[in-house]
Formats: sequence, C-alpha cells, structure tokens
Amino acid sequence: MTDKVPIITVDGPSGSGKGTISQLLASDLGFHYLDSGALYRLLALAAQRHQVSLDNVEALAVLAAHMDITFEMNPDGGPPTVILESEDVSSLIRSEDVGKNASIVAVIPEVRQALLRRQQVFAREPGLVADGRDMGTVVFADAEVKIYLTASAEERAKRRHKQLIDKEESDSLAALIDMVKQRDERDQNRSVSPLRPAEGAILLDSTKLSVAEVFTAARQEIRNKLNI
Ligand code: C5P
Repeated sequence: MTDKVPIITVDGPSGSGKGTISQLLASDLGFHYLDSGALYRLLALAAQRHQVSLDNVEALAVLAAHMDITFEMNPDGGPPTVILESEDVSSLIRSEDVGKNASIVAVIPEVRQALLRRQQVFAREPGLVADGRDMGTVVFADAEVKIYLTASAEERAKRRHKQLIDKEESDSLAALIDMVKQRDERDQNRSVSPLRPAEGAILLDSTKLSVAEVFTAARQEIRNKLNI
C-alpha cells in the first residue's frame, strides 16, 4: 500500500532538530511532510477542550480517531498550519504543557492504534518525509530511507531555552534539562512503540553540527538510497 511511494523517516527525541531537517528535506525534494508529533499534541489539546481526562482511554481513542484536524502545507517550506475544529492552533500546540500531555496520551496503545491510519494516509505521490518517534520502526516500517537524529539532553534543553527566551517565556535551563530528560524517559521506556533507532537507520548526532551539516548528511543518505 505505502511501499510504492518513496518514504523518508526522521525519528528522534524532541529538540534534536528533526522538525527543521524534515521540513528542509521535504521542501528540497518537493515531498509531503508529516509532523506526527502534532497529531499527539492535537489530541492532548482536543482532550483538554472536550474535558476528556488523560486517563479515559476509551474516550481518548474515539477522539483520536475522529478529531477534526487539517494540516495546511506552507509553500515556503516552513512548518504547516495546524487547524483543530476550524481554529488555527499552530502556536497553541507548541506549549510545554501540551507537549507534556501529548507524551502522556502517546503511551496509550489504543491511541497509537487510532492514529496509525491517520498517519499512513500522508504517504502520497511524489513522496513523504515523516517526522516523529516511531516512523521508521512502526508507522512506515518499510520506508526506503530511515534517519535517527539525536543530540545531548543538555544541548536540546539549551535550544528550547533559547526559543522560550525569544518568545519571552521564561523557564530555567535546569528545569528544562529535567523536563527533557523526563520526556525522553517516557518516550524511550513505554511498552508500545518506544523511541529507538529503526533497523537500518543512519544515526546523526546534531549536538555539535549545524543545521546545514545535518541537512547535507541526510540529503547524501537519500541520494545514496533513492538516487534522487
Ligand atoms: O515531536 P513532538 O515533541 O511534537 O511530540 C510530542 C510528543 O508526542 C512526544 O513527546 C511523544 O511522546 C509523542 N510522539 C509519539 N510518536 C510520534 C510523535 C510524537 O509518541 N511519532
């Protein structure tokens, strides 16, 4: 079903730069882009809005399957606009709170199952760059190119700290390092689809690399595997 469309998966922890790299790759290749983390974030936000408690598995699974969401691609290659029930929630879903709740609902197998098909439909001609935690291991296990992008927890917390300062929100660096580590722990140790490199993935560590250097390495891997 999905194996005719070329698929590139980019997995890794938050703050590794996979969103930026995936968007650059999608734009360079003219491929579609899936931000799978946004789906978990949208579910967390939808649950809050509909007063669904984060431990109500059945209601969360129904919401995951039926929530009214749209991704509008940005022609300039930037992040897509994310719509929930006719409202642009692109910045709302980026808050620390929504991110934390997203990683809580992401632990629930019924939620992951409900979101599986909603992710797979993004695989359309001419191709897809899929960004997440389990793109290469589960959702697009037969993808031609798999990339695992990481960076040290300290470096990822520093990047987040800088973003928050730019947005004039404050949070101490120490608290952010703690939060990054807690989220890693939840993502890596959950029983269903834990965050780990897919078999055959190339590992890139962005701790000391610039965006341009990571992009060049990822682009080379795509050239090697797909000849494009
Ligand atoms: O990538 P992002 O930080 O937006 O993802 C938010 C949360 O959604 C992650 O912490 C993770 O728990 C969950 N997630 C996931 N599987 C994915 C993408 C995100 O479990 N493919």
